[in-house]
Amino acid sequence: MKSILVTGGCGFIGSNFIRMQRELYPEQTIHNVDKLTYAGNLENLADLEEDPQYHFHQIDICDRTAILDLLKQTKPEAILNFAAESHVDRSIIDSGPFVQTNVIGTQVLLDGAREIGLERYVQISTDEVYGSLGQEGYFTETTPLAPNSPYSSSKAAADLLVRSYVHTFDFPAVITRCSNNYGPYQFPEKLIPLFISNAMEEKSLPVYGTGENVRDWIHVLDHCRGIDAALRKGKIGEVYNFGGHHELTNLEMTHILIDLLGKSRDLITFVQDRPGHDLRYAIDSTKAETDLGWSPQIPFEQGIRDTITWYQSHTDWVQRIKTGEYMQYIETQYAGRMKKDG
Ligand code: NAD
Ligand code: TYD
Repeated sequence: MKSILVTGGCGFIGSNFIRMQRELYPEQTIHNVDKLTYAGNLENLADLEEDPQYHFHQIDICDRTAILDLLKQTKPEAILNFAAESHVDRSIIDSGPFVQTNVIGTQVLLDGAREIGLERYVQISTDEVYGSLGQEGYFTETTPLAPNSPYSSSKAAADLLVRSYVHTFDFPAVITRCSNNYGPYQFPEKLIPLFISNAMEEKSLPVYGTGENVRDWIHVLDHCRGIDAALRKGKIGEVYNFGGHHELTNLEMTHILIDLLGKSRDLITFVQDRPGHDLRYAIDSTKAETDLGWSPQIPFEQGIRDTITWYQSHTDWVQRIKTGEYMQYIETQYAGRMKKDG
């Protein structure tokens, strides 16, 4: 492809994806559309600032006029929609921005894409749309949607809108659904970067409930490779699940981070549980492995060590993020939640 348009490219996964695309396809032009919310950071792609094949546009994906103007002007062959409000805890405090960006923003992109016509539209979704698993079983692409949080409901609504455009308008879309990502450039409100940065500062690590909830962790670059495969080899109308085959309870993950950082387990503080907290996510990615020839490449033990090293060598990046808005969120989220030490 000569030209692609990525939304949300200044966030965690989008910035890793854009950097990987520049390495894999040097001839390809990339347009990055990002509103620069609290989670969007130009610094994440500072190394591409002088790259003539890379163009940044500060636009809200809900801004119909601006999006259509840009699409007409740039005529990308594909759109990859990463832009989203992405943090479950924030969606519990206020679901408004989630419905706005994740649902209305997707609708605006779909309409704009239909108007200019393109080869592929990739909707970056999440395994959280399937709801929660018990101790057994895995999510497949045919698992019914049963989202439990305002975040996952807004993502499921967007997926259904994409599905309807495929069915109604022969729109050339694919949907990807991935499990929990970890790696460089993740905003330090999510479990892994929050706990690494807190532990580095000898601050407490707030584990929700008893820490028994299970997540299936995948390195962000393995997710990005999957999205690239879905873009180039995915069949229109299909959904592809990606997972890391690496399930851990939150308490197991917390112990791993503390031990690798050489800190004390006394830093752990058990706090009041997240309302509606999904017990377990686990992905069956057989379809992506069979149809796209994809499989995760980065062993967890190596990926997590590299991630810790990245945060240790990017303390300035973390400190610059921890500004007024961040501190205010941390205060709202964790104040009055402290339950007991353990
Ligand atoms: P992130 O919060 O780090 O980044 C989101 C980016 O979107 C930011 O740069 C932000 O500025 C931008 N954005 C938000 N609202 C916007 C708007 N209205 N217009 C334009 N830009 C806007 O999120 P992430 O972790 O990189 O997730 C990216 C995508 O991947 C999301 O769609 C998310 O649902 C999905 N996903 C994430 C994970 C995960 O573990 N992080 C797993 C599966 C799927
Ligand atoms: P998170 O990184 O927010 O991802 P998601 O909720 O989308 O899976 O959280 C991962 C897990 O860690 C989830 O079970 C909630 C838990 N968690 C804590 O125990 N403490 C925290 O401070 C955070 C942010 C998350």
